[in-house]
Amino acid sequence: MERRTGMKRGLPRKENAMKETDMAYGEELVFRPLPQLVIEANVNPQEFATAQASAKADNLGYWEDAAQELDWFNKWDVVLDDSEAPRYQWFKGAQCNIVYNALDRHIATANKNKLALIWEGEAGDTKKYTYYELYREVNKLANAMRSLGLGKGDRVVLYMPLIPQTMMAMLACAKIGAVHCAVFAGFSAKALRQRITEVEAKLVVTADGFYRNGRIVNLKATVDEALVGGCDCVETVVVVNRAKLDVDMGEARDIWYDALVRQERSDAATEIMNSDDPLFILHTSGTTGEPKGIVHGHAGYMVGLHRSLDWVFDIKPTDIFWCTGDMGWITGHSYVVYGPLIAGTTTVMYEGHPLYPQADRMWDIVARYGVTILYTAPTVIRMLMRYGNQYPRMHDLSTLRLLASVGEPISPDTWLWFYKFIGHSQCPILDTWWQTETGGCMISPFPVSVLKPGSVHRPMPGIEVDIVDEDGNPVEAGVAGNLIVTKPWPSMLLDIFGKPELRDATYWPLGPGKYWAGDIATRDEDGLIWIHGRSDDVMNIAGHRIGNVELENAFLTHKAVADAAVIGIPDKIKGEVAKAYIVLQAEFAALDDRNEIIRMLKTHIRKEVGPVAVIRSMEFVETLPRTSSGKIVRRVLKAREAGVQVDLTAVVED
Ligand code: PRX
Repeated sequence: MERRTGMKRGLPRKENAMKETDMAYGEELVFRPLPQLVIEANVNPQEFATAQASAKADNLGYWEDAAQELDWFNKWDVVLDDSEAPRYQWFKGAQCNIVYNALDRHIATANKNKLALIWEGEAGDTKKYTYYELYREVNKLANAMRSLGLGKGDRVVLYMPLIPQTMMAMLACAKIGAVHCAVFAGFSAKALRQRITEVEAKLVVTADGFYRNGRIVNLKATVDEALVGGCDCVETVVVVNRAKLDVDMGEARDIWYDALVRQERSDAATEIMNSDDPLFILHTSGTTGEPKGIVHGHAGYMVGLHRSLDWVFDIKPTDIFWCTGDMGWITGHSYVVYGPLIAGTTTVMYEGHPLYPQADRMWDIVARYGVTILYTAPTVIRMLMRYGNQYPRMHDLSTLRLLASVGEPISPDTWLWFYKFIGHSQCPILDTWWQTETGGCMISPFPVSVLKPGSVHRPMPGIEVDIVDEDGNPVEAGVAGNLIVTKPWPSMLLDIFGKPELRDATYWPLGPGKYWAGDIATRDEDGLIWIHGRSDDVMNIAGHRIGNVELENAFLTHKAVADAAVIGIPDKIKGEVAKAYIVLQAEFAALDDRNEIIRMLKTHIRKEVGPVAVIRSMEFVETLPRTSSGKIVRRVLKAREAGVQVDLTAVVED
């Protein structure tokens, strides 16, 4: 663990009533919400203060109240059992199903005929589903899954693009008590196989292909490659006919989605689940070479999401909510599927690339559907910002009322561009901090908060955090330290799939009550939190967590590589990109054509990990800096990148 010296923030202030502004050097901007927004907010500043105080005084009472707002088959015996902390059991003894709250209960209300999903394909084709239509589709698939022999606890891998059937597959799994495990479509056949084998999936749901930036990405072929000569656990592969590709459906295990659901009934029983029964597994990179399968359950996850939609995103009956997250990552799970549906709002899903056919695609979508809340990532904003203001100017963005960001720190200039050119200085920006492990938002402004661009503001009511040194002692305001969460929260991870022993060591190294987030943060004099980045060997490339060791291990499987170290280096658009330091095997080191070696290694990484792992550059060195016990010292390489003269051959103390 590294202690970093802090940044002092005591700069002169300029206050703004959510109006256009330019930032002068050294000034700290403060934005106050417009009065109308405060009047209309689900939680006004007084209610927010009361909620904060009551959650502080009675944390469990606060979360119990939130849980009471949802539907349960049987209520809990205890709100939280922490007798085996850091193993926490929320709503112990309760029975529920997240799908009951996300779909079933809406059918008996005015939401029945409301739009649940607006989907748009990259080519411009659209599909809309009311809550009732979505409910019927999910029921058909749930029945089909049951007829394939799937039930409670069975794992289903989803290797899917952003299409309605992905949402249906998630909900159908939840409905029958099966556990979905989405694998991002940017991962390779090898990475897919690793995840399928680890979770012992009985079923894989995929598509023939999908559209991305004017091209068709073939998914079925990757699934076939993943399943060659292994993965005996997989009994069936269900394929959505999305791109009309001529795919090989020759295996007995392969079946088209439409054929599977065609004859099924459109009503299906919703499985009664215990609160901690797993809902999904989602892999995320850690500091070891192996991705961790983070497990979330039905009860706590839905309670956490419910609060964030209602209070942070301030959902109103007329909202159209668009989170641009992919279904292969947690943002897609929580804020494309489960959160918006629990809130009974209309969720938007877009299949393709933000630059297709040109850089106004997102603004076009906002205008055409009247999107009111747009939730995206700094990397997307930075990319679109580069194309200039003329693209947002082409569209009427006046329906927007809230903007939100997640995944990486948003710099003040990016924040201001988003605020000024997309929100027209009318919309607060909710910079939400959270992780795959936390399930939903943890630290975020509310629409009524006074904002400082670049700060994630304060923890939500019911969430308590601190910033500490490596021994767990709180650091002063202005000093950077490690972000920890000091109270359990309902949507916390249940486990690391198949590796329960890793869970406590990874997330509670300081003991119960000190969840280790792996992020470096500062609290300023006003108590607002600023996130600076990861403290561990995990990169954040375009908002995606990629482990350094995972890439190093992938390099080491190539015959040309004797040793490898990967570090993240700053990038204007992606935030961070990977740079590899490679020691070549002698016979390759003698070759003159380094470009050929680079090409070969890049292809290798694409095959091993997938296109998600972009290696920006490679440098060939004689040796790598190591500690006396042999660990690579990446900070020496980082210093070198920053222009510091370093000796790569020196042995660094452990
Ligand atoms: O480093 C933090 C960063 O993203 C990490 C979590 O990544 P993942 O599990 O993939 O989930 C991303 C979407 C929730 C965090 O440890 N991060 C997330 N949100 C922010 C952020 N960094 C700065 N500001 C944020 N708002």
